[in-house]
Amino acid sequence: MDMKNSKLFSPLTIGSLTLNNRVGMAPMSMDYEAADGTVPKRLADIFVRRAEGGTGYVTIDAVTIDSKYKYMGNTTALDSDDLVTQFKEFATRVREAGSTLIPQVIHPGPESICGYRHIAPLGPSVNTNANCHVSRAISVDEIHEIIKQFGQAARRVEEAGCGGIGLHCAHAYMLPGSFLSPLRNKRMDEYGGCLDNRARFVIEMIEEVRRNVSPDFPIMLRISGDERMIGGNSLEDMLYLAPKFVEAGVNMFEVSGGTQYEGLEHIIPSQNKSIGVNVHEASEIKKVVDVPVYAVGKINDIRYAAEIVERGLVDGVSIGRPLLADPDLCNKAKENLFDEITPCASCGGSCISRTADRPQCRCHINPRVGFEYDYPEVPAEKSKKVLVVGAGPGGMMAAVTAAERGHDVTLWEADTQIGGQINLAVVAPGKQEMTKWLSHLNYRAKKAGVKMVLGKEATVENIKEFAPEAVIVATGARPLVPPIKGTQDYPVLTAHDFLRGKFVIPKGKVCVLGGGAVACETAETVLENARPNAFTRGFDASIGDVDVTLVEMLPQLLTGVCAPNRTPLIRKLKNKGVHINVNTKILEVTDHDVKVQRADGAEEWLKGFDYILFGLGSRNYDPISEQIKEFVPEVHVVGDAKRARQASFAMWEAFEAAYSL
Ligand SMILES: Cc1cc2nc3c(=O)[nH]c(=O)nc-3n(C[C@H](O)[C@H](O)[C@H](O)COP(=O)(O)OP(=O)(O)OC[C@H]3O[C@@H](n4cnc5c(N)ncnc54)[C@H](O)[C@@H]3O)c2cc1C
Ligand SMILES: Cc1cc2nc3c(=O)[nH]c(=O)nc-3n(C[C@H](O)[C@H](O)[C@H](O)COP(=O)(O)O)c2cc1C
Ligand code: SF4
Repeated sequence: MDMKNSKLFSPLTIGSLTLNNRVGMAPMSMDYEAADGTVPKRLADIFVRRAEGGTGYVTIDAVTIDSKYKYMGNTTALDSDDLVTQFKEFATRVREAGSTLIPQVIHPGPESICGYRHIAPLGPSVNTNANCHVSRAISVDEIHEIIKQFGQAARRVEEAGCGGIGLHCAHAYMLPGSFLSPLRNKRMDEYGGCLDNRARFVIEMIEEVRRNVSPDFPIMLRISGDERMIGGNSLEDMLYLAPKFVEAGVNMFEVSGGTQYEGLEHIIPSQNKSIGVNVHEASEIKKVVDVPVYAVGKINDIRYAAEIVERGLVDGVSIGRPLLADPDLCNKAKENLFDEITPCASCGGSCISRTADRPQCRCHINPRVGFEYDYPEVPAEKSKKVLVVGAGPGGMMAAVTAAERGHDVTLWEADTQIGGQINLAVVAPGKQEMTKWLSHLNYRAKKAGVKMVLGKEATVENIKEFAPEAVIVATGARPLVPPIKGTQDYPVLTAHDFLRGKFVIPKGKVCVLGGGAVACETAETVLENARPNAFTRGFDASIGDVDVTLVEMLPQLLTGVCAPNRTPLIRKLKNKGVHINVNTKILEVTDHDVKVQRADGAEEWLKGFDYILFGLGSRNYDPISEQIKEFVPEVHVVGDAKRARQASFAMWEAFEAAYSL
């Protein structure tokens, strides 16, 4: 499809607002917010950059109507007229960059972190949130007060020069969403019970907002087209309510799906979920209303987005993570430059998974998220002869970044293919999309003139002979086999070798040592590969019979893995009958048995395994950097070669090292 003439990139009028195109940026809390409710420059930059990249509108998430009830941590606020001036500056920057700002205005309700200050969060009923804080049911007087606060915040949104206001009642989440959902609303007054009663809060909120803004000022409502849970709102419920929301004053719907109860599985659909998870619901809702309907949720291919708009299924698309991966998504797509688009792999990585030492939203494949204007795309002062060692994600990012800055870059990879450990990461079912990163970097490497040599192992000698001015060492990691009793006496099988296809497990009793991502994904792959199929069934009816055990020292599996990836994988392992041993330390192995120690100190032999696979992590592999420092002026070690971690660190460190040359 020629995007230049596509409906996706044609204007759309919503109330008094005419958008340049039908791609909006979905609300995403990123933890760059300020304690005083203002929008810090670093946060504003993220949206301004996407505005420059041609996005039709951008949504800043979770702007509270009451600072007493903060959302995740620091929360942007519009609960006072004093905050309007600063917000206006932000909205102006977005407008001057060619887009328009639509703040998502919220009351966090049960999702408020005020529980940490010993103030109960507010809810329609008594609810327990993800932090185990219990909300109290608000009175009808309080409802009326909060509805008024929504109206005042809406007035400020318009005064600040925003293009519209976003209201959130999806996901059985925050206050309006909790009132709407039977999963959380257990009231027995006029705000609870039947569907009309549960919708009363939302309808009164919309009406109050409408009263406080100009007649055509756009009101966008985020809903779950289907909560996809027993006891939750269904598509039928939403088909009934959507026209009533329009009657109350809504000008546009953004259709998401799922609820907060399922660990974000349907809200932030990651690997294992299909593209366009909410498009069906959005298209059905579009049939019953006469205002634009957008779909959101894993619309991570812009050509697919254009297709569903062209087919009339939806009027537009709301896109979250793919706009983190590439702020210029729209401008590139409009010019049909699809290969240029940095792809989001829905990996559920550093945008969602935050850690104590990296609490803010970033993106695996786009090192500039959070640093939008810190690394301008300009040539380096002096072009250098650069050697990159290793073509995993780190090496590829290093080579691309250096070459795009004008350096003369050669890349040596010992293997006959690029990708490094990503070749193993993508084996598990549902992880194929991570190949997109490497094929994109490969495209850019070729375009930027990287001289890529596959099947060439770098040694101290050949590097000396090559005489580079700078070397980036991205030699990755090797599987870790800790010195457990027995490992010296029996052959060791690693999860890595299994994933690499060095041997197959057609059937039998399998023990995977470890409970992190590698171990759990290996267990999943063992189960998947051993399934009986048309070819094998005729030869050996027992093929497919596998019995899998996991042994993990920590109290739970998949520590540190984000909820949208963790929840479905654990469910799958449990449903498939995997024997999960947590709080269990490995003491000794033989060729068929594993001796373990339970949390209470009791020791036990788990016996009779046909295969014992080591999935206990990796150790950095860097055989060259120290020696080559003697003759190479600049040496940088990046990614797993420094310390085995995630692909994100490899790509960010590689980017920084290459940018610094
Ligand atoms: C099963 C599995 C699943 C994973 N899942 C995820 C995930 O979901 N998300 C995530 O972020 N991370 C994941 N990881 C981790 C991620 O793959 C690594 O963190 C990442 O690949 C590290 O990148 P790197 O470039 O530093 O090293 P590697 O990917 O290890 O690449 C190093 C490259 O250097 C080459 N090399 C080594 N020595 C030489 C030499 N002397 N000369 C030339 N070439 C050499 C190697 O052949 C290799 O190709 C997973 C890892 C595994 C094993
Ligand atoms: C890091 C992150 C933070 C999010 N925060 C919010 C939020 O504050 N409010 C909200 O309604 N949705 C939030 N979402 C959900 C997104 O708006 C969007 O619906 C979801 O990511 C699916 O779209 P995508 O596949 O295009 O990313 C968040 C998503 C991500 C990835
Ligand atoms: S970290 Fe992964 S899921 Fe998140 S935006 Fe980047 S590529 Fe997409």
